[in-house]
Amino acid sequence: TRKTVAVLPGDGIGPEVLDAALPVLADLDLPLDLEFGEIGWDCWRTGGNPVPDRTWDLIGRSDAVLLGATTSKPRREALAELAPELREHAPQYLSPIIQLRQRLDLFANLRPVENHLGGGTPYRFCVVRENTEGLYAGLDFHPVPNALWPLVAEHPNARRGGPDDATASIRLQTSYGLDRILRFAFETARRHGYGRVTLADKPNVLRRSSAYVRERLEAVAADYPELPFEVLNVDAVALWMARRPERFGVIVAENMFGDILSDLGGGVMGGLGLAPSANIGERGNYFEPVHGSAPAMAGRGRANPAAAFLTIGMMLEHLGFPEAAGSVHDAVRQVVRRRDRVTYDLGGTATTTDMARAVIEAGQRT
Ligand code: NAI
Ligand code: MG
Repeated sequence: TRKTVAVLPGDGIGPEVLDAALPVLADLDLPLDLEFGEIGWDCWRTGGNPVPDRTWDLIGRSDAVLLGATTSKPRREALAELAPELREHAPQYLSPIIQLRQRLDLFANLRPVENHLGGGTPYRFCVVRENTEGLYAGLDFHPVPNALWPLVAEHPNARRGGPDDATASIRLQTSYGLDRILRFAFETARRHGYGRVTLADKPNVLRRSSAYVRERLEAVAADYPELPFEVLNVDAVALWMARRPERFGVIVAENMFGDILSDLGGGVMGGLGLAPSANIGERGNYFEPVHGSAPAMAGRGRANPAAAFLTIGMMLEHLGFPEAAGSVHDAVRQVVRRRDRVTYDLGGTATTTDMARAVIEAGQRT
């Protein structure tokens, strides 16, 4: 059966990298229908919503969403750029990424990390970040609300002032949220051949919550007897990710720990130009390069399209085309390793389209 992909190029270098990379699909001859839609800053300026209704309709009838990049700005700047006739209704600006995650309940954020550049030890692991709860659950308070103050005031530092002189943020984790992200981590390991699951938490300090998470982890792990698992302190994971990335398979973490480890993973891999990502839930998904719209680089043909290719590869895998996904992945790797037709960030002088052509040609040869 044919699958529909909603392509939302967005802002800045988003359309540039997707324009350059999407022609790879033509060679693969897959039962895919691409439908283009709008998202991002222009939609906000002219319509008061960065994700217009027609884009939600498109997403609703698609099997996958492929995003380029979107520009987000602080609320005040966003309102200042809004079309004057819309300003009196003063719609709330909410970043498109956050709208997609919330409305589609995309609870898992995946960032695969691999030694594409070569040199040194090969490694291949994946950070799975919980996207809906944890320290980013939205329970972030200043002043400390009355209902919490009796608890907070037990801390000796808090007693030196009142509710106005302290902040409190709650790391919410629920059995519902934990079980689905932990199961997702083990499924990812099983399906994509990662050799182990590591929970990055803080059992040394956050004793009660970490003990509960470990309980849930052990229960889920029982269904995956072939996969070794461990719980490590998040700071140790950071150190080992930098020093010995080959020791990891799937690293799963709550929202804030996962946010930080994901970016560290991008750094380990050699930069934003190479980092793809996926956001997945029961009711939807979107696939996007980790990088943003890079406004200063936009329109100059300098952006590295590799992350966009690798993102397309992740999407093909998800849609059930593993061979096509593998060929895109291998083509990127060949070009990146040869280093002769690569963009500035990898030490070359190629433009976005030159490098993209090199990848597409490498794919045709294999
Ligand atoms: P950015 O990722 O756009 O750029 C950061 C740096 O990385 C820049 O120096 C840029 O030149 C470089 N870079 C990014 N992509 C590259 C590529 N493909 N090849 C080579 N170099 C690359 O992040 P920044 O500057 O913090 O944000 C710019 C805008 O993008 C903001 O409006 C921000 O809100 C938005 N953004 C959107 C994201 C998304 O769509 N998910 C993610 C991150 C930022
Ligand atoms: Mg981040």
